[in-house]
Amino acid sequence: MKKNVLLNRLLPVDHEATAQLLHRSLVHWYQTHLNLGARYGTSHEPFLLFPQVYEALDPGQAIAARDAERKELLGVCFVHPRETHVSVGIVAIAPDAAAHGVARAMMEQAVELARSSHKPLRLVSSLLNLDSFSLYSRLGFVPHTMYQDMTVEVPAAGLAAHMPPGADRVREARPDEAARLADFEWELQGIRREQDYAFFLRNDVGSWKVWVLESAAGLDGFLVASHHPTFGMFGPGVARDAETAEALLWRALDARRGQSPLFLVQCSATDLIHTLYGWGARNAELHVAQARGPFPEARGIAFPTFLPESA
Ligand SMILES: CC(C)(COP(=O)(O)OP(=O)(O)OC[C@H]1O[C@@H](n2cnc3c(N)ncnc32)[C@H](O)[C@@H]1OP(=O)(O)O)[C@@H](O)C(=O)NCCC(=O)NCCS
Repeated sequence: MKKNVLLNRLLPVDHEATAQLLHRSLVHWYQTHLNLGARYGTSHEPFLLFPQVYEALDPGQAIAARDAERKELLGVCFVHPRETHVSVGIVAIAPDAAAHGVARAMMEQAVELARSSHKPLRLVSSLLNLDSFSLYSRLGFVPHTMYQDMTVEVPAAGLAAHMPPGADRVREARPDEAARLADFEWELQGIRREQDYAFFLRNDVGSWKVWVLESAAGLDGFLVASHHPTFGMFGPGVARDAETAEALLWRALDARRGQSPLFLVQCSATDLIHTLYGWGARNAELHVAQARGPFPEARGIAFPTFLPESA
């Protein structure tokens, strides 16, 4: 590493500095490369939710890079060990510390954690960001599923589109359904992470709703929605088919009247995407799910999110 950097754990006392770093890093990168810095707003405060959620889910797992002399925070990398795999959440570097190998050094620790626990490492990365794509690609990640980020402006009076079949049967999950959701994801997507679902259902950090749709045969799908004022995104979620995905999304959008939630839809779900265009959806970005190590064959439709990372 060319810079004199110390790697250790991110602590709760670092949360304010972490939020400032995330905000500064994203504004700088998206502004200088894509002229889109404004999308991250003028305040770092919304970014406090990231370290808070990760610390609640995986205490002491996030990696911090600090200036070895001044101890100032230069980079963060959120790491999330799960039953079947390890996920990496947002990786961000202070703009003046970029291109010195700091992100690579943090990622190598995540790679080592996955290697020593014999699990694949997974993440979702932006297809508009060649810096992060190259970082992950050089470390051995292979892209497998492409997603379009879509956003729908939900009018205060609700969506103009008709309620699709099944949406009237979508209900909120019960507090004791975490294992059921995790088993369903395992069955369709080949990954399992019950602790995430228990976290959403406890609902004590962030603000989450978990929507489910089932039939007599069992679960057909579920979708988590963040109702936090600073993070309006849907996911994670899994649906058995496009009709179920449509019903879940419609219900989740209807509960966000006057807002413009963001969600990732896999590009292969063409019928769903065209229905969403009919509801007024706009494309906001493109992401690709990547894995370092084997990734299981997946069935159904998955909705990954960025918080917590849920590839
Ligand atoms: C993406 C980001 C984390 C990279 O951090 P960084 O510290 O500058 O990255 P590093 O210097 O550790 O590594 C970058 C690697 O990619 C390589 N690289 C960069 N651009 C490349 C390109 N176009 N082609 C091939 N390789 C490239 C570098 O050579 C380096 O590889 P090496 O270590 O094997 O030489 C940083 O730009 C950032 O914080 N961006 C804003 C936040 C963000 O978008 N995060 C990612 C999404 S969550």
